[in-house]
Amino acid sequence: MKTSIYAIKKEILANPNYSTEISKFTFNRMDYFVFYKDSSNMDEIKNKSVQLIVTSPPYFNLKDYSSPIKSQSSQLPASPKQTKKSYDEYLNELMNVWKECARVIKDDGVIFVNVDIIRIKTPTGNVIPLPFHIMNQFESIGIGCKDVYVYKKLTGVPFHFGRKLKNRSEYLLVFSKSNKYKWNLDGIRTPYPKNYIYPPGHKRRNPIGEAPSTVWEFVPPFQSGGKNHYHYCPFPDGLVDRAIKLFTDVGDVVLDPFLGSGKVVARAKYLKRIGIGYEINPAFKSVIESMIKGTQTEGTKKSSDLSKL
Ligand SMILES: C[S@@+](CC[C@H](N)C(=O)[O-])C[C@H]1O[C@@H](n2cnc3c(N)ncnc32)[C@H](O)[C@@H]1O
Repeated sequence: MKTSIYAIKKEILANPNYSTEISKFTFNRMDYFVFYKDSSNMDEIKNKSVQLIVTSPPYFNLKDYSSPIKSQSSQLPASPKQTKKSYDEYLNELMNVWKECARVIKDDGVIFVNVDIIRIKTPTGNVIPLPFHIMNQFESIGIGCKDVYVYKKLTGVPFHFGRKLKNRSEYLLVFSKSNKYKWNLDGIRTPYPKNYIYPPGHKRRNPIGEAPSTVWEFVPPFQSGGKNHYHYCPFPDGLVDRAIKLFTDVGDVVLDPFLGSGKVVARAKYLKRIGIGYEINPAFKSVIESMIKGTQTEGTKKSSDLSKL
């Protein structure tokens, strides 16, 4: 386990004298770094030093993350006309980030990408299959998609758009260079339901518990404006925790190149992993710092405490 700060800097960070704006924290002798810059260049991180990347990129033109968050009480999808970049330009920019992810991820590491099909306000009315374009992008740099899960959102906007149904699901894509990526299934097993098909004691029941399915059900953090509103699309704690527990061990390095609210670094702290994030918009710095500082490590009484935001 990497617990020495000196060892962390030496093994993970390419240059401890960063020229960019950063937030840096040390808790329980583990380091947490957030770099406020474009993640298409993650020169600060050494090759093959990250065990897990958990991330969710901007979904093309659906949301605008360029404004200081406090000035807007809610965020509406931008129309394609408002977006200066074409979809192809957007994909090219994403690809530059994926290439950096490919460089820093370990051979047995996982790149876990939450993304959705774009189904509203598209130029033709047809959906844009962004998750499948991202699969093609990774494949073109030699990184296979090993599995696809569905994030089933247990709450969401109570209306639908036109002839499209209410959207309550997104994709979770599991990429790795190897078929033998780190895999701690026992770490995410849950108690069997009372009416489980096999009764207690049956040989098909694992004594540790039931393995989760490909459908990951979580309640998205409430973001309706007002004081609860701290970012437009933060991950649920449970979703990030499950990915971290499944694909890493305590002390491993977890990275989010599109950090947003700071959630992935905060959950890395909660689960005693080392966390690194990149966020292009420094207006999120206070949200990110509060998120990380307000998250205790597992076993202490609070997890996320956002009341001070
Ligand atoms: C979908 S949000 C991520 C939300 C995050 N999953 C959370 O839990 O809060 C995408 C974030 O990526 C940031 N971003 C966009 N382009 C970026 C880039 N090139 N480098 C770093 N961050 C970027 C945006 O400002 C936005 O905060």
